[in-house]
Amino acid sequence: MDNIPNLLKEHYDLDATNILPQRGGWAALAFKVYSGKQTFFLKAYEKSRASTPKLTALIDQYVPITVWLMQHSGLKGKLPVPVPTQTGAYKCEDDDGIYLLYEYIEGETIGEKALTAEQVGELSNMIAELHLYGEEIPVETKALKEDFAVPFVPQLRNTLEREVHELPLDVKELITSHLNQLNGLTDTVEKLSADLRNRNLRMALCHTDLHPWNLMQSSRQLMLIDWEGLKVAPVEADLMFLVDEPYYDDFVQIYRKVHNDFAINPDVLQFYRYRRKLEDIWEFMEQLLFDRQEAQERAVTLNYLSKELNEIRG
Ligand SMILES: Nc1ncnc2c1ncn2[C@@H]1O[C@H](COP(=O)(O)OP(=O)(O)O)[C@@H](O)[C@H]1O
Ligand SMILES: [Mg+2]
Repeated sequence: MDNIPNLLKEHYDLDATNILPQRGGWAALAFKVYSGKQTFFLKAYEKSRASTPKLTALIDQYVPITVWLMQHSGLKGKLPVPVPTQTGAYKCEDDDGIYLLYEYIEGETIGEKALTAEQVGELSNMIAELHLYGEEIPVETKALKEDFAVPFVPQLRNTLEREVHELPLDVKELITSHLNQLNGLTDTVEKLSADLRNRNLRMALCHTDLHPWNLMQSSRQLMLIDWEGLKVAPVEADLMFLVDEPYYDDFVQIYRKVHNDFAINPDVLQFYRYRRKLEDIWEFMEQLLFDRQEAQERAVTLNYLSKELNEIRG
């Protein structure tokens, strides 16, 4: 990441006076960039990570939609503002990574803190507003349409069926002792996937990663960040993150003022819950099998994987 000052100059014509590593999310490294009086948030996806191609493939599709929402919807001021490169692109890259630049949001990430009643109201209004839009908006959404696919299943099955003996011993032991549950979950997800593909479900713009680390409180309002999961999907793709929250009833009361005929489809909800679970499991497996990790980092991932696998029983 030594090249970042050059990259900022070349693609954004920015002279960085300081570049501070930030606590990033799971998927990418993050830096606070100072340039004159301005501050920026640089998100850097390392090309060495197995998850990067998947996480960065749709940048050129989803960022223009967030820009449209920022200009034309009630989400104005509540979304992170991307900074385009000198050629008007929303990402740039070098040998080490793929980069996105945003205006820096001065504020606090919600993270482990509980939402206040006011924040629940703001969140509900934001999600209700987002769900008003769909594929009719004048920006291309085709590539983001939910098709209920589970693209990593062939690779997962291959690992479980054929390659299990070649796995590192610690991973092998963990997987082998949960093999039935893991196969069962995979079968269920595939069945639900095939079933939902044949249904005619109402779809809307969905964020699909609505957890409190993607919410920031700025001085003026709650902001929803990290839009890389943006989809045109059944709204359960978002509501799955809220149904178990203690504030869900309050959330729904406000949400219903906009979407009064709304009801959760239990099959769709189940599909999203199970697919997410399987996806998390596969992502941990991918890290253990394909990423270069330090011993301690590896132990942490193994522990997460073990936790996820144990939860399938319940
Ligand atoms: N524009 C921004 N300004 C300031 N901090 C930000 C900004 N965007 C994200 N963050 C902080 O960085 C963290 C990770 O960013 P996020 O976009 O969620 O990345 P990831 O995809 O890795 O989860 C967030 O939880 C938040 O604390
Ligand atoms: Mg995030």
